Amino acid sequence: ASIAKYVVPLPVPSVMPAASKEGPADRYVIGVRRLRLQILPPGSPATTVLGYGAVGRPRSFGSPALTMEARVGRPVRVKWVNELVDGRQRALPHPLPVDPTLHWANPPGGRARRDSRPAFTTTPGRYPGPVPIVTHLHGGHNFDHSDGHPEAWFLPAARDIPDGYATEGSQYADFAASFTDQHERSWSPGSAVFHYDNDQRAATMWFHDHTLGITRLNVYAGLAGFYLLRGGPGDLAPGLLPGPATASGAAGGQGVYEIPIVIQDRTFAADGSLFYPASRRQFDRFAGPYIPHSDISPIWNPEFYGTTMMVNGRTWPYLAVQPRRYRFRFLNGCNSRFLALKIVTNPLARRPASAALPFWQLGSDGGFLPAPIELGEILLAPAERADVIADFTGVRPGTELYLVNEAPDGPFRGQRAATPADPATTGQVLKFAVGPLTAPDRTVPPAELTLPTLTPFGTASVTRQVALLERASKSVAGVGPAVALLGTLEKGGTAKMWSDPITENPAVGATETWEIHNFTMDAHPIHVHEVPFQVVDRRPFHGSARPPETWERGFKDTVIAYPNQITRIKATFDRPGLFVWHCHILEHEDNEMMRPYRIGP
Ligand code: C2O
Ligand code: CU
Repeated sequence: ASIAKYVVPLPVPSVMPAASKEGPADRYVIGVRRLRLQILPPGSPATTVLGYGAVGRPRSFGSPALTMEARVGRPVRVKWVNELVDGRQRALPHPLPVDPTLHWANPPGGRARRDSRPAFTTTPGRYPGPVPIVTHLHGGHNFDHSDGHPEAWFLPAARDIPDGYATEGSQYADFAASFTDQHERSWSPGSAVFHYDNDQRAATMWFHDHTLGITRLNVYAGLAGFYLLRGGPGDLAPGLLPGPATASGAAGGQGVYEIPIVIQDRTFAADGSLFYPASRRQFDRFAGPYIPHSDISPIWNPEFYGTTMMVNGRTWPYLAVQPRRYRFRFLNGCNSRFLALKIVTNPLARRPASAALPFWQLGSDGGFLPAPIELGEILLAPAERADVIADFTGVRPGTELYLVNEAPDGPFRGQRAATPADPATTGQVLKFAVGPLTAPDRTVPPAELTLPTLTPFGTASVTRQVALLERASKSVAGVGPAVALLGTLEKGGTAKMWSDPITENPAVGATETWEIHNFTMDAHPIHVHEVPFQVVDRRPFHGSARPPETWERGFKDTVIAYPNQITRIKATFDRPGLFVWHCHILEHEDNEMMRPYRIGP
């Protein structure tokens, strides 16, 4: 049965409650739990997800999470708690099929002894063990001990997990020891305390799970939320822009004109459960036998594209708007799907459709752009953000407008070549139902806004060349699916695995240009942890350089690297430590398209 569209309002996540706002830092205790949520329209079955929430406030749990509100210069401390246990304190299994042949966290099975890790020679998808988690603040100028390193995962403190395993066995201890900054040993079974200094520009950030080899599953299951950093010289005075939800609630209520919007594609089974492929047969003709620890991974799929659009945790919701300005903080929270967003009058019209209302983009990943830009369409790769004004002023009450998506239902290679998403399903996202104006709009029209100054990085002292490569994986049936990898330019392109020694090692304080040479067939969103960067330019392998797009002229943390092009970025690596850079197509990231890197010795 098809899923009815535009029957429920868009939920507006309210603010994540803090445990304390006294003392030197705002403190939070945020748990991860298994939840049942009504993602599909009323009358359809509920869906089991994983979600974050404030411990002690059961109603704060959800997916996406409530929004974390932080201020520039005011530190935040979060105790992240893995609460994935049942009523009898036994570890819950993963709700989705795990591929144990990838290089992944690989904790022991629920009842296994600490030093006897089971070899996962059982049926694929039958990983019986507990769910490891670790949270990354995406866009954060993080300390390495608090960055959510993919191997710094931890298990719940469960009765059936051997003593000590929830911490020491999880490798978190090893990593904590290798971290540069001597972080207080503030982890305990089932949790880890992360510290965020917020010593960076105001920006639209988000947090999500980052566990090695199952990030795609943990995020798909629901572990994501917004982290809005405000204030400081990089922000605008309050009142100039449409205002946000407050701690006192107002979920979707009156007076909320700044709305974070996370768009994610999902597929639901008839019983309402989240579908994630448990074999590659759903996607190709792979029919070989299961061979553990080989490079034939029988579950992993090169990408995932869902059939249904979910916005703030509801399928195809609507948003009642007034004829006034709204500030939307868009996040592409999809695993693999790129989005090309447009506001149109007829959602079923042929694509490309013409825009009925423009967007004014004010900011991207790393805060405000140098100046507002008017765009008919917003292009977002997975993990990218766009801070935009949609101005409904003057639109007649009773009008219905639609947010549609024109990016393809498959890999993205560049907008020109793309076959747009199906206008009947994934080509639609959200409906805007325009009602009467209830209070005057005193915000500044976007064309008249002066945005905060942006200080560009100085001259780079190092140019580093990195490569995006495609390699065929082997299979008993011949050649398996292509796997995209990161690497260097040695010998015309040498792939490096996650476990290979570090090749990117900027000095503390160095400004570097990274040239990303994309030898693959697809575009990949490349994310560098820790530092914001500027996009310098893009140059086809045989051609001349083009400046960054107008919407890429602020600071970024994720950049689209197009096939057969060299994308250049520039950053100052100012804080020592062990971090990672990777492709943000979560299926790629989980299968080796991620590399550790170290700043400083
Ligand atoms: Cu949004 Cu390394 O991740
Ligand atoms: Cu990729």
